[in-house]
Amino acid sequence: MPVTLRRLLERHSIGPRWMTAPGPTLAQLRLATRAALRAPDHGRLVPWRAVVVPDGGREVLADLFARFARDAGKTDEDVAIERERAFNGPALVAWVVRIDDDVAEVPAHEQWMCAGGALANFLNALHLMGFGAKTLSGRKCRHPALTQAFCREREQLVAFVCIGTPTRKPTPRVVDDADEVFSLWRGPGL
Ligand SMILES: Cc1cc2nc3c(=O)[nH]c(=O)nc-3n(C[C@H](O)[C@H](O)[C@H](O)COP(=O)(O)O)c2cc1C
Repeated sequence: MPVTLRRLLERHSIGPRWMTAPGPTLAQLRLATRAALRAPDHGRLVPWRAVVVPDGGREVLADLFARFARDAGKTDEDVAIERERAFNGPALVAWVVRIDDDVAEVPAHEQWMCAGGALANFLNALHLMGFGAKTLSGRKCRHPALTQAFCREREQLVAFVCIGTPTRKPTPRVVDDADEVFSLWRGPGL
């Protein structure tokens, strides 16, 4: 088996609790973004963007998370926990998607597949560079204050990707069995 494929089969998410500095540099994030751009993309619509949250933006993000938590009626303690999440991971990247419903040849589900494939390529590239990462979303991604802060017209904030140097090996939650999703077609007449 090719070494790179063996490494890909080992990819698992690593939560922010299990990562430390250094995170990827901007050049490494750009490289991972190039891998993301290799996702299959019908019509070359590129229906996604990766937006890096700079260190100087963490306080601003914390205020937005806190606003979401207060609007959701959370306790002061939970608002503080939500605030802290803005400081998760040495690097933090927002995944923004724009689905265009008016492209007859490329229905929305195909555009979502492209955005998801791009995210997977992004995570795989980071993994191959030795970083751990986890995609995290939650209701806050749909809060108007966060949408406004990250999105242009008709875009949606889907999730944040926390990235850093792993402090422990990932714990696989499942043993993958290809046969659960792999079969030979037994259609009519076969
Ligand atoms: C768009 C997106 C959003 C996600 N949001 C969350 C989340 O808010 N909380 C969570 O625990 N997992 C979330 N996940 C799942 C984790 O990122 C991760 O994929 C999952 O725990 C499976 O682990 P694995 O990647 O090691 O297989 C999300 C995944 C995606 C693709």
